Amino acid sequence: MIDRETVDRIYAAANIVDIVGEYVTLKRKGVNYQACCPFHNEKTPSFVVSPSKGVYKCFGCGKGGNAVTFLMEHENITYPEALKMVAKRYGIEVKEKEMSEEEVRRNDDRESMFALNGWAAEYFANYLHRETEGQSVGLAYFRQKRGMTDATIKKFGLGFCPAKGDRMSKDALAAGYKKEFLVSTGLSLARESDGSLYDRFRDRVIFPVHNISGRIVAFGGRTLRTDKQVAKYQNSPESEIYSKKRELYGLYFAKKAIQQQDFAIMVEGYTDVISMHQAGVENVVSSSGTSLTTEQIRLLNRFTKNITVIYDGDSAGIHASLRGIDMILKEGMNVRVVLLPEPEDPDSFARSHTAAEVQEYIRANEQDFLEFKAKLLLKDAQGDPIRKASLIADMVQSVSQIPDPIQRSVYIKECARIMDIDEQILISEVARKRMTTSGDRETDEFLRRQTTLRQREAPQQPEVEFVKQVEAGSSFEALEREIVKYLLKYGHCSFDFKEGRTMVACNVAEVIFAELSDDNIEFRNPVYAKIMNVYREQWTQLGTGTEVPAHVFLNHIDPEVCNMSVDILTADDNYVLSELWQRKEIHVDSDAEMLAVGVPKAVTLYKSKVIEALIKELQAKLADELSDDEQKDIMQRLAAYNQAKKTIANKIGRPIL
Ligand code: CTP
Ligand code: MN
Repeated sequence: MIDRETVDRIYAAANIVDIVGEYVTLKRKGVNYQACCPFHNEKTPSFVVSPSKGVYKCFGCGKGGNAVTFLMEHENITYPEALKMVAKRYGIEVKEKEMSEEEVRRNDDRESMFALNGWAAEYFANYLHRETEGQSVGLAYFRQKRGMTDATIKKFGLGFCPAKGDRMSKDALAAGYKKEFLVSTGLSLARESDGSLYDRFRDRVIFPVHNISGRIVAFGGRTLRTDKQVAKYQNSPESEIYSKKRELYGLYFAKKAIQQQDFAIMVEGYTDVISMHQAGVENVVSSSGTSLTTEQIRLLNRFTKNITVIYDGDSAGIHASLRGIDMILKEGMNVRVVLLPEPEDPDSFARSHTAAEVQEYIRANEQDFLEFKAKLLLKDAQGDPIRKASLIADMVQSVSQIPDPIQRSVYIKECARIMDIDEQILISEVARKRMTTSGDRETDEFLRRQTTLRQREAPQQPEVEFVKQVEAGSSFEALEREIVKYLLKYGHCSFDFKEGRTMVACNVAEVIFAELSDDNIEFRNPVYAKIMNVYREQWTQLGTGTEVPAHVFLNHIDPEVCNMSVDILTADDNYVLSELWQRKEIHVDSDAEMLAVGVPKAVTLYKSKVIEALIKELQAKLADELSDDEQKDIMQRLAAYNQAKKTIANKIGRPIL
C-alpha cells in the first residue's frame, strides 16, 4: 500500500503530456494535444490530451483517463505499479507499507518474469564487467571486434552468460528466483531426463531486449564461435511478456530521436542498431532479423509516419523484403530505401563514418520505396515483355495498398513514367485491385472518415440539446448516469425549481442530494455511487453552491472515478474535438431552462423507479406463506410506497406515470 500523502504528491507531479508523450507523438492543437490512439488502430487522430485537465480521451475507441490510468492501460499494470512508475519518473520516494502475504501472492506472473529478467540482465552485465571470463571473452569481443565504447556497452546493457552450462540458472535459484519463471522467461531450459536446469544463453554475449517503456522482455545471445554448427543467435522464446512480432529492438533508446527527427531508420540486427547509436544516429530500430510485422509498424506509427529502410549493398534479401514493405505502405506510412555501398552493412558503415556523414549519406541516397522497387524490377526485366507484365502487376499490387487517394494518384503518375506505360491503364488496374482486395478494415476506415467529415460540417447544436434528457422507461443505469452527468457538468448551476406553487432558486447538486438522500437512496452502480460521494464530500467542504472543479474527478486517485468521469464529461462532445474541455462555461440562460426541466425529471424518474422496484419486491413476498401480521405489515408498506409514488409524481407538477 502506498500512503495517501505520497499518492497526492505523485498526482501533483504527473504531467500527462510528458507521460503520454513517451508512447505517442503528440501534436499541439490549440490548448490540447492530439495523436493517433495507442489503444486502437487508426489513421486520423482522435486521441486528445488536455494538459490543463490532466486527462486523455480517445474519441475513436472511447478510452479515457489520467496519467496514472493511462499507464495502467498501456503497460497492463496495476494501479500501485502505475503510481510507482510515475513516482520514479519524477524522483518521488514511495513510502510503502509492508506487503501482506496476500499481496505478495497476488504479485502476478508477469511481474515475476520482469523481475527475473531485470535480475538476469544485471547478472550478465556484472559477469561481463567483473569476472575474468566475461572480461577476456565478452568484453574483449565488444571492444575489439565490434569497436564499442564502454558507454555504449553500458547503455544497451550488454552482458555475457558464463560458458559453464548451468551457472546462471544455479545462481538465479540461489538468489531466490523460482524455477517456474526461469523456464517461462526462457532463460533456462529443463533437461528432459531429470528436470534440472541449464542455461539457454551459455557461453554467449548478451543483448537485452527492452520494450517501449524500458523493461526487459527478452534476450538475444550471440555465440563467439565460428563453428557453423552453432546457431549465431539464440533468442528468448515467446512468453507472457514477450511477443517477438510486437517488439522492435532499440525502440526504447530511439523513440525520442524518432520523434524529434520525424523519421525512423530500420536496420537488420542488434549490432547495426548499436553501432548507429554509437556513431550518433539514434533514430534507429531493428526487427531483429525477421521481416517487419504489422504490429511493429503500428508501434513506429505512433512516433512517425516516415520509415527509411537501410539495406546492405549486397543484400540478397532485398527482393524477399519487398513484400514486407507493401505492408508498411498499407499502414499509410511513407517508406524510403537506402542502399549502402558494397560491402558495407549499417554496422560497419556507422563504425567507419561520423554521424554527420551517415546522415548525409542517407539524405543523399534515400529513394522513395516504390520508385526504388520499380527501377529494381525494371532492371531485372530488361526488355523481356513477359517479365515486364508481371512487374506491372507487382507495382499495381504495391500502389493499391496506399490508403490515401491523393498519394496513390501521385504514385500512379510516377510509376507510369518510370515504367513507360499509359497512366490510365495503371489507374484502372489499381482501382480494380482495390475493389477486389480491400478488406473490411479499410471500408470501416473510409466510412468512419465520412462520418467525421459530416460531423464537422454539421452546425453546432444548440446548448439546450447538449444533455439528452432521459425518458420514462430508462434503465437504472441510464438514469444514474444522467444524474451523475448533471452533477458533474452543472452541479453548482442554479435554476428555478417549482415546489408546490412557489418557485425556488436551487442549484443542481442541492436538488439531487436533497431528493436522493432524504430517502437514503444509494446508486446501484458502485462507480456512480462513488462519484456522488466524492461530490458530496467536496461540496460540504467547499461550501454548498460553490463549483467543485472538474479536476477533482478527472484526477481522482481512484482510477474508476477518474475513468468514469472522463467518460461522462466527454461523451457528448465528439464533434467538437478541438474545443473539448474549453467549453466548461456553458451556463447560458437556455441551460437554466434545460436544467429546470431535466434535473427534476431525471431525479423523479429515478426515484419512482426505485420505489417501483421496492413495490415489486414486496408484491413478490406476498406470494409466500405469511402470518397475518406479516401480511398486514407488507400491505401497509405497499400502501405507503404507492402513496410516495404519487407524491413524487405530483411534486414537480407533472404526473409521470
Ligand atoms: N538473427 C537471429 N538468429 C540468427 C541470425 C540472425 O535472431 N541465427 C537476428 C538477430 O537479431 C540479428 C539479425 O537477425 O541481429 C541480423 O542477422 P545478422 O546480420 O546475421 O547478425 P548481426 O546482428 O549483423 O550480427 P553480426 O554483425 O555480429 O554478424
Ligand atoms: Mn552484422
